[in-house]
This record gives sequence, C-alpha cells and structure tokens, in this order.
Amino acid sequence: MDKFRWCFIGTGRLANQVAKQILDSGNHEITVCFSRNEERCKEFAKQYHARSCVSSEEALRSGDIDAVYIVTPHNAHFRYAKQALEAGKPVFCEKAFTVSAWETEELIRIARQNRLYLAEAMWTWFSPCANQVKKWIDEKQIGEIRNASFTYHMKSIGYAPRVSDPKRAGGALLDITVYPITYAYRLFGYPKKIESNAVLKNGIDVSEEIVMTFEKGIKTTISASIVDMKGLEKMKISGSEGSISSSFYHASTKAILRKGLLDRQTYKSGNQLFNSYVDEFDTVASEIREGLLESRMVPLGSTLDVMRIMDEIRKQIGLEYNDLE
Ligand SMILES: NC(=O)c1ccc[n+]([C@@H]2O[C@H](COP(=O)([O-])OP(=O)(O)OC[C@H]3O[C@@H](n4cnc5c(N)ncnc54)[C@H](OP(=O)(O)O)[C@@H]3O)[C@@H](O)[C@H]2O)c1
Repeated sequence: MDKFRWCFIGTGRLANQVAKQILDSGNHEITVCFSRNEERCKEFAKQYHARSCVSSEEALRSGDIDAVYIVTPHNAHFRYAKQALEAGKPVFCEKAFTVSAWETEELIRIARQNRLYLAEAMWTWFSPCANQVKKWIDEKQIGEIRNASFTYHMKSIGYAPRVSDPKRAGGALLDITVYPITYAYRLFGYPKKIESNAVLKNGIDVSEEIVMTFEKGIKTTISASIVDMKGLEKMKISGSEGSISSSFYHASTKAILRKGLLDRQTYKSGNQLFNSYVDEFDTVASEIREGLLESRMVPLGSTLDVMRIMDEIRKQIGLEYNDLE
C-alpha cells in the first residue's frame, strides 16, 4: 500500500510528536508543511523530509497530498480547515475543533457541499479503551447509571505559550475540559441542563467546575484546571449495580469494571495507546481511502454538539475571546 501523504499546517510540539510516530510506522509521509515562522517550518520540513511552504495557499495547492492535518492553536483551526476544504482537501483537525459552534457548523456545511472528509482529532475516541467503557455502559453492565465524575487537573499553563494566551483561544475549556465533556456526551448524550463556574484570569479560564444533568437524572461533575494537579485525571461512573473507573481516561489503555465486592474485570488494550498517534492516523487514512466523509470514531454530530455545550459554558462563565489573532 502506498504511504498516505499528509500536509501539516502547524509544526509545533504536537506536530513533532505525531510526525515522529507516523513516519516511523512506515504507513505515512508528510509531503508538505506550513506554519507562520518560516525558519521553524523549514527545520520541521528538513527533519521529516517534507517540502516547506511559505503560505498555506501554496501548501494546499499541492497536488501530491491526500489530506491536511491542522495542528495550530485553536484560534487558527477554522481559518485553515475552511481554506483546505475550499481547496478540495480532506481535513483532520485537532481538538478543540473550532472556537465556537457556528464555525464547526460552517465547516460541516462546506465539507458536505464539496463531499470531503472532515473529522476532529479527538484522540480519546480513536482509543479501544474509551470504546470499551461505552460498550459496558450500553450493555448496562453496571445497571442504571446514577452519576459520573471526571477530574482533569494538569498544570499545563506553562506547557506552551498558546495555553495561556487569550488571543490564541487558550485556557482550560478548549484545551483540556473538552475531553471530559466529550466523554460524558459520548456516554450519556446531550445534557438537559448545564451549570458551570470558572476562575478567569488574564482573559482565560484557568479552572472550572461543571455539572451536567442528562436523561433519567444522570448527573456528571467535571472539575478541570490548568494551574494545579490536585485531582489529577480520573473518571468514575456509578450505577445501580457497580462502577467503572479509569485513570488518565482521555488517553487510557485501562479501565476497571466492578460489580459487587469480588467481581472485578480489568480491560487493557493490546496497544500502548497512551502517547501513540499511529492508530489514529492509520484509521483516518483508511477511512479517507474508503471514501467516507466523516469518521466512524468521531462523528461530526458529536463534534458539533460538544462545541454547542462549550458555547453554553462560555456564556455562563463569561468567557469571551474578543481579540483573537
Ligand atoms: N491530541 C493530543 O494529544 C493533543 C496534545 C497536545 C495538543 N493538542 C492540540 O494540538 C494543537 C496544537 O498544539 P501544540 O501544543 O502543538 O501547539 P504549539 O506547540 O504552540 O504549536 C502550534 C504550531 O502552530 C503554528 N501556528 C500558530 N499560529 C499559527 C497561525 N496563525 N498560522 C499558522 N501556523 C500557526 C505555530 O507556529 P509558530 O511557531 O510560527 O508560532 C506552531 O508550529 C492544539 O489544537 C492543541 O489543543 C492535542
């Protein structure tokens, strides 16, 4: 099988991690790349044997690419995804997919009009572990769900300048809280009620507490922070007949199903998913080759609903990005 040919828009931290892994797999190549800083873009191109382009237009005009991977800060996702779709290229775009739901709606409209593949690189749902948790819930392994709690406390404010920059749509919500929100949505559907509080500092949300109430009164609490590691990353779902838990759930390989004191089942995925992007990129490449227009793993309806939930949270906590780059 020929290697799948990518155009990378953005050549920062994650782009480097992904590039190393997918090139090592032997299944992919990065044909062209573009990012704002020409020197850094050239370095990336040299390291991964790609052509460095001086504009996104030049990169997207390339005839020898199969899809575009957008891995810039959140504020630039919409602009480049729209450009790529208008240039007739399939798009795989990092989370958070866009800044607002209307941008996601617009991208879906253009992708459908042009019959092009479009998907969010929401890592978690390309993982066998998260899908196993969903299977247990759907099979009612723990009976009627009562409540679920998610923590995601990661002191990532210093991880990359974009995380603390309101001009690049930084903050906890779009960077990390998007994971537990998506998780809860995939398990329980669209919430009937959303209540949120946040601490805002220098134009971004540094932490937040969100309560979402779903059908049948299922209550989910989310606590997220980019300024402390207090709660780490844990998930627990409780039902009338047991519970499911998973640590580092956004990229986990392991989940535990408990039913009574002695009945304990541990799921461990064969693949070492944590820190592995190869499965995700292999899946997207094969979906595009198959002619799909969206991903089976992360349907566009899910991406759009999550963006709508995040719009509502931003409204409640008074978070506005008025000065995006
Ligand atoms: N799935 C995961 O596991 C995971 C993990 C981490 C991050 N992410 C997501 O990946 C994305 C990138 O994160 P990161 O940590 O890699 O960020 P980063 O290190 O700041 O890199 C961003 C890259 O985008 C470029 N860029 C910034 N603004 C641009 C613009 N307006 N036009 C063109 N290029 C631009 C930057 O170029 P310059 O150097 O010129 O500024 C840099 O190459 C975010 O959406 C983030 O949420 C996902």
